[in-house]
Amino acid sequence: MIAEPAHTDAPFSGPLQSAITYEKIPTNIYADAKAASRAVAHEIADLIRQKQGEGKPCILGLATGSSPKTVYAELIRMHREEGLSFRNVVSFNLDEYFPMEPDSLQSYWRFMREQLFDHVDIPAGNYHVPDGTLPPDKVAQFAKQYDQQITDAGGLDFQLLGIGGNGHIGFNEPGSLINSHTRLMMLDHSTRAAASVDFGGLPRTPRKAITMGVASILAAKRIVLLAWGERKAPVIASAVEGTVTETNPASYLQTHPNALFVIDEAAASDLTRMRTPWLVDSVTWDNAMKKKAVTYLSMTLQKPILKLTDRDYNDNGVSDLLAQYGQAYDINIDVFNQLQHTITGWPGGKPNADDTNRPERALPERKRVLIFSPHPDDDIISMGGTFQRLVDQGHDVHVGYQTSGNIAVADDEALRFTDFVVDFNKQFGIESPEATHVFQDAAAFLRTKKDSDMDIDELRYVKGVIRRGEAKSTCRFVGIPVENAHFMNLPFYETGKVEKKPLGEDDIRITMELIEKIKPHQIYAAGDLADPHGTHKVCLDAVLEAVKRLRRADPTPANFMNDCWVWLYRGAWAEWDIHEIEMAVPMSPDQVMKKRLGIFKHQSQKDGVVYQGTDAREFWQRAEERNRTTASRYNRLGLAEYEAMEAFVRWKG
Ligand code: F6R
Repeated sequence: MIAEPAHTDAPFSGPLQSAITYEKIPTNIYADAKAASRAVAHEIADLIRQKQGEGKPCILGLATGSSPKTVYAELIRMHREEGLSFRNVVSFNLDEYFPMEPDSLQSYWRFMREQLFDHVDIPAGNYHVPDGTLPPDKVAQFAKQYDQQITDAGGLDFQLLGIGGNGHIGFNEPGSLINSHTRLMMLDHSTRAAASVDFGGLPRTPRKAITMGVASILAAKRIVLLAWGERKAPVIASAVEGTVTETNPASYLQTHPNALFVIDEAAASDLTRMRTPWLVDSVTWDNAMKKKAVTYLSMTLQKPILKLTDRDYNDNGVSDLLAQYGQAYDINIDVFNQLQHTITGWPGGKPNADDTNRPERALPERKRVLIFSPHPDDDIISMGGTFQRLVDQGHDVHVGYQTSGNIAVADDEALRFTDFVVDFNKQFGIESPEATHVFQDAAAFLRTKKDSDMDIDELRYVKGVIRRGEAKSTCRFVGIPVENAHFMNLPFYETGKVEKKPLGEDDIRITMELIEKIKPHQIYAAGDLADPHGTHKVCLDAVLEAVKRLRRADPTPANFMNDCWVWLYRGAWAEWDIHEIEMAVPMSPDQVMKKRLGIFKHQSQKDGVVYQGTDAREFWQRAEERNRTTASRYNRLGLAEYEAMEAFVRWKG
C-alpha cells in the first residue's frame, strides 16, 4: 500500500538521528517537494530580513529548472501575504544557454522574470543572469567580470542549486574541476536530451551554456541543493555517500562547510538510510520492512529466498529480524508465500475460486473496469498485458484518456494528416473549404515557425486528433468498442507548452463525472512518482482527489465508490520495488508480442519522438525490458519463471 504523504513541514524523522551515517553532506528529507520548498523559502526569507535589519544587501545565487519553482512560488506568496520585501536583494543566476535571446521561451532570463522577479519588489538593476546574446569572443571577458561582480558585491550569502541527472550543478558537467570559474561550457548529451523537451527536440537544443564555475559556487557562504523525484535518486546517493569526484560535480559539495541537501522522499530513495534502514539504525520490523529486508538480502546475495540461512541474516545486518521472528526458515516461507500470492493471471479476480490469498476479489465475476491513461498510449505501454486479460476474461473495460497528448506530435506528421484529408475530400468530391484552409494555414505557419512559437489552435487540434485515432486503434486491437474510450482532454494540459497549469477544479470535476458514469469496481491509474512535475503526477492527483471526494460524499456501502479498488501501475520510467508489488500479472512470450503490436498502433510516438528525453529506446523496448526485468526478479527470488510481468500496487487512500 502507498502511504499518504505525511502532512508536515518537518523533515523526515525516520532513521535520521542514526548512530551510523553513510552521508557526507547534511541531508534533509521531506515528504514532498512542497513541504521541502517551504522550509527553503523560509530560510531565504529569514536571511533577507536579517540583512535588512543589518542595513545590508542580501546576495543570492539563484537557479532555474523545475526544482526551484516551488521555492520561488513560496517566496512570492510571502511577499504578497507577509510583506517580505526584496528591495535589498541582489541576485546572480547560475547560468544561461548560449546563444540565447532573453525573450526566448527557454531563456533563463525570461524564466527568472516569470517565476520570481516580476512578482516581487526587487529593483530592476539588482538581478543578473549571464548574457546569452554576446558574441563568442566576448564571453571569456564577460565571465571574468561576472565572478568579479559577485566578489565586489561581497560574495554570495546563499546559493540555491538544482542537480542534473548526471550530477551537474549549474552547468558544470561531469569533468568540471573544483577550481573552475564562470565560463562557456559544452553541454553533456544527457543534459541536452533532458532539455530537448523544452526545445522541441534535440536538434533545436543549444550545445553550450555560460555557467558559474564550481569554485564560484563553493565560495558561497551557504549552499542549499534541491532535488525532487525518483529520477534524481541515484545521483543524489552518489553525491551524498560516494567519494568526491569530478564525474559527479555535486559531490564537490562534500568539501563545503555549510552545504545542505533538501530532497523529497523519492529523490532520497537510494540513500542507505532509505534503501536499507536496518543498516543505519534499529527499525520497526513490520511486515513491509520484513519483505523489504528479505527481498533485498536475497537479491544482494543472489540466493533464492528459500535458500537464505540464519547465517545470511546474521552476516548481513538483519540479525534483529531473526531475533524477532525466530529462524530464517519461518521468515523465508512467510515472505515467499506473500510474493507467491501477488502473482495472478486473473487481474479482475478469479471467478469461482477462493480469493482469500488472491490480490483481487472473485466477486462480482464480471467487473466494470476503468483504466486511466495520462497520455493516449500509457494504457498499452504500462499495462497492455493486463488490459488484454481483463478484456479476454469478460470484464467491461473502459479507458479514460486524461490528456490529448497533442504537444508530442511532430509538425510534419500533423501536416501529413491534414494533407491526407484534403486529398481524400478531393478524391471523393467532398466540398470542404474549411479543411483546405486548415491545411494551408498550418503549412504557412510551419514554414515560418520559430522555436519560441506556440502552435496555432488548429494545429494543436490536428495533433490531438492524430493521437485520439491511435488510442481508438489500440482499443479496437485489444477488443473493446471505441465507445469505451473516453477522451477527457483535461484542461490543465491544454497550454500548448511543455509547462502545464496546476491541477484545477475542472480537471477533478471531469474525472469525477467519468467515474460516476462508469461506476467501476476497479480503477487503474498511473502511479508515476518519478516525474513529480510532470503530467502523470497531475493526472494521478486528479484521480485520487476524485476518488476521495466520491467516497466522502457517501461513506455507506450503497455508494459504489466504497466497493471500488484502485490499482496503480507505473509509467514509462520505473517499476515498483519488488517488496511493494501487490499484484503481478504474468505474460507469455505471445502475450508480450501482442502487447508490442498494440504499442505500435501509436505511430506518432515511434522512431525518434518529439519528447524522447534521456532514454533513446522506443517505448515498446522500454516496456518490454521493464516487464522482463520484473519477471526475472521474481524468478531470482525463487518464484516461477515467466517471460514478463506487469506490476501493480493497491492504493487504499
Ligand atoms: C539551472 C541549472 C541546472 C539545474 C539542473 C536540474 O539553473 O543550473 O543545474 O538545476 O539541471 O534541473 P531540474 O531542476 O529542471 O531538474
